[in-house]
Amino acid sequence: SNPSLLILPGDGIGPEVMAEVRRIIDWYGDKRGLTFDVSEDLVGGAAYDKHGTPLHDDTMAKAQEVDAVLLGAVGGPKYDVLDFSVKPERGLLRLRKEMDLYANLRPAQCFDALADFSSLKKDVVAGLDIMIVRELTSGIYFGEPRGIIEEGNERVGINTQRYTESEIDRVARSAFELAMRRGKKVCSMEKANVMESGILWREVVTEVGKEYPEVELSHMYADAGAMQLCRWPKQFDVIVTDNLFGDLLSDAAAMLTGSLGMLPSASLGAPMANGRPKALYEPVHGSAPDIAGQGKANPIACVLSFAMALRYSFDQGAEAERLEKAIETVLADGVRTADLLGEEGATPVSTSGMGDAILA
Ligand code: NAI
Ligand code: MG
Repeated sequence: SNPSLLILPGDGIGPEVMAEVRRIIDWYGDKRGLTFDVSEDLVGGAAYDKHGTPLHDDTMAKAQEVDAVLLGAVGGPKYDVLDFSVKPERGLLRLRKEMDLYANLRPAQCFDALADFSSLKKDVVAGLDIMIVRELTSGIYFGEPRGIIEEGNERVGINTQRYTESEIDRVARSAFELAMRRGKKVCSMEKANVMESGILWREVVTEVGKEYPEVELSHMYADAGAMQLCRWPKQFDVIVTDNLFGDLLSDAAAMLTGSLGMLPSASLGAPMANGRPKALYEPVHGSAPDIAGQGKANPIACVLSFAMALRYSFDQGAEAERLEKAIETVLADGVRTADLLGEEGATPVSTSGMGDAILA
């Protein structure tokens, strides 16, 4: 049977960028004989409008069954007044939690044609291709005890960094598996100098590393890692780190390469019966209400998210490269959506114009 894909366009520019991905999926069916069983459903504000919840149970059940989920973006000013429990973001959080997506993959890749766009010197970023693996379901954002308590005559805000060996083991495994398919280097980042969770993190990652003798493992304190990431990012291949450090490091790494409209991501969980991990793919950007409905959004982040799905969920690495190569060519030809143009840039193409160029 065909590989299955659940598409959740969501809100704002989500449906606009996803429309271009749909055309590319159709192209793969027509031109490459690669046909997907695609189903589409609502998430976020769109789901709330129809069902009164940002993720219907039926949609959740479908997400658990398919080979991969591709999501656009959720949220918008219209929903800011909603109760916390039904906010659009809750739909996304529920997907991540119930699918137990513990490894968040954030590539920082710099297309040569956009190297001038980076805040760093061109030779520091040109050709950059690194992958940050952030632990996504544990650590200080979830650890107990937490809360704001009274102590003496003032209040104290408390959060707890907590990692079990199995939580570290599984995300480390994701990182080593990735490194085997890439540059065969893993750099693990923590603060073992000041944190017990960091000491355990380093121990467990080292143990897992012994099962991957081909992969070169190094360790770095996360603050030093942040410096190295800005100084000479090309020294890295795969970086694996915890939830908090990964949040910061991946956002910083993202900006090495330019626009939010270019950044894909994947969140992976445990392997399914077919050996591939449970997976949710989504652009890093949000629903961009400021440009929604105007045909201005850059669809590349969403298209690259689909390329990641081709590679990690459908075992179609060569087809993923074909798609990435098409994007590289389009950018080298000077095709730009508005977000990729500087002050005195040429005329931008529309969302569908960028889709046309990629397809061509
Ligand atoms: P945002 O990512 O939606 O937009 C930030 C800026 O980047 C805006 O100026 C926007 O126009 C621009 N931008 C974003 N994606 C673009 C693209 N593909 N092409 C061209 N320009 C692009 O973040 P913001 O404004 O903070 O949040 C807007 C809404 O999205 C909020 O409701 C927020 O909660 C939600 N959000 C959802 C996320 C998700 O679905 N994963 C992630 C981040 C925010
Ligand atoms: Mg962040």
